[in-house]
Amino acid sequence: MSAQLVVASNRGPLSYEEAPDGSLTARRGAGGLVSALGGALHDRADALWIAAALTPDDRRAAEENEGGIMEAAGYRVRLLDIPELEYDMYYNVMSNRFLWFICHYLWDPAHTPSIGEEERQSWHAYEEVNRRFATAICDNTAEGVAVMIQDYHLGLAPAMIRTQRPDLRVGIFWHIPFPDADYLRLMPDRWSRRLLEGMLGADLIGFHTTRWAGNFIRAVVDVLEEQTTRRLVSHQGRRVRVGHYPVGVDVKSLTAGADPEDVRRQKASITDWLGGRKLILRVDRTELSKNIVRGLRAYERVLEKRPDLHGKVSHLALLTPSRSHVPEYRDYLAECKETGREIAKRFQTDSWEPLRVEVADDFPRTLAAYELYDVLVVNPVFDGMNLVAREGPVLNRNQGILVLSRNAGAWSELSPAALGVNPFDVDGTAEAIEAAIDLPEAERAWMSKGVARLARGRAPARWLERQLRDLPS
Ligand code: G6P
Repeated sequence: MSAQLVVASNRGPLSYEEAPDGSLTARRGAGGLVSALGGALHDRADALWIAAALTPDDRRAAEENEGGIMEAAGYRVRLLDIPELEYDMYYNVMSNRFLWFICHYLWDPAHTPSIGEEERQSWHAYEEVNRRFATAICDNTAEGVAVMIQDYHLGLAPAMIRTQRPDLRVGIFWHIPFPDADYLRLMPDRWSRRLLEGMLGADLIGFHTTRWAGNFIRAVVDVLEEQTTRRLVSHQGRRVRVGHYPVGVDVKSLTAGADPEDVRRQKASITDWLGGRKLILRVDRTELSKNIVRGLRAYERVLEKRPDLHGKVSHLALLTPSRSHVPEYRDYLAECKETGREIAKRFQTDSWEPLRVEVADDFPRTLAAYELYDVLVVNPVFDGMNLVAREGPVLNRNQGILVLSRNAGAWSELSPAALGVNPFDVDGTAEAIEAAIDLPEAERAWMSKGVARLARGRAPARWLERQLRDLPS
């Protein structure tokens, strides 16, 4: 069957690993994009998902499947084989260092970024990989089909597709924040123009919140000096629609990602460790934007101020390593571990482990911890949505309270039933954690119920449908 819907993203839904017997086994890909899109495409036999082969094992899986097409959860997947060096420059340098840092306000403008030869080469690789995706899409897609491009890795692809195949209906969804125009200008002018023009090649540009959509529109006005009316940008004689489409979680596919028996075992293990204490939880990939170190320091502040809580609470930080090829991420992981060790050592007693930082990729343990927490701390510096803030409340069974950064996209919907924090304010975050622990029973019940209800909305399938509906017919 020829695909009626094509989605394209850097990371695909599955990653492959060679088992000891030489066969390939598939694992669920990590991250917010994969969770959202995987939920949205579940059982859509008319869909094709095009992604990059990320590892040598992925490349082998692509080769072993005729034409690189594989079946996955009811839809098809095609992996693109990209030369390793080019992929490294595009992914590790341009996407995850340069663009990620721009979009999450992570640079330190007194010193960084400083654009040199490495950055220039990686911009070139970024263009090349975007071209490869555009070509793969244009070569394999029937007339008039909807093509939904995902995220900052593929910002140039929409314009490239439009040049080759004006018949296709193209959307791009930007899963991460979009910075304001001044910060975007930390990029060389030519690149910011190319990026905005690349995205404007689409018919529809989606963000999780009005805040990121507004930043994008203002950047288009400032940098490209284009005309805009509310949510429409006039660009090269076309009208491009800019919208916000918040995504939630698909509870079924979330829990289907783990064996219930494993989750039960992990629940027993965490309950045992807690020994009746309250659980303060955080769950993050080890990315600088997640603000893990300030979060741990805030917990330290709580313990400094509140000796009465010693022995009554324990903090579990479940961290999944991410992007270890980029030096800043490696250093950040080391800093998280070191900070965790220091705090734990400072307060621990023979009978109490105040803080445990676990670095692993253990999904059953995450699901178990979601059920059990009393307080969930989600304090990113900036975040497009942050799915932990939705997954936790949906699965929690313990009247858990969400402490949430006002710079997470999730804040725009969950704020009525979460405790908000300014993520840079360590003392303020400590106060919110304390308030969450101290909350009277009735308020606790009301807030946890409320946040679960708000977090449950916005099913990924509806998120995708709303965008498809807003594409020109
Ligand atoms: C996070 C972001 C997504 C992004 C993904 C990439 O999950 O929310 O927008 O696509 O990271 O992660 P990766 O591990 O593929 O670099």
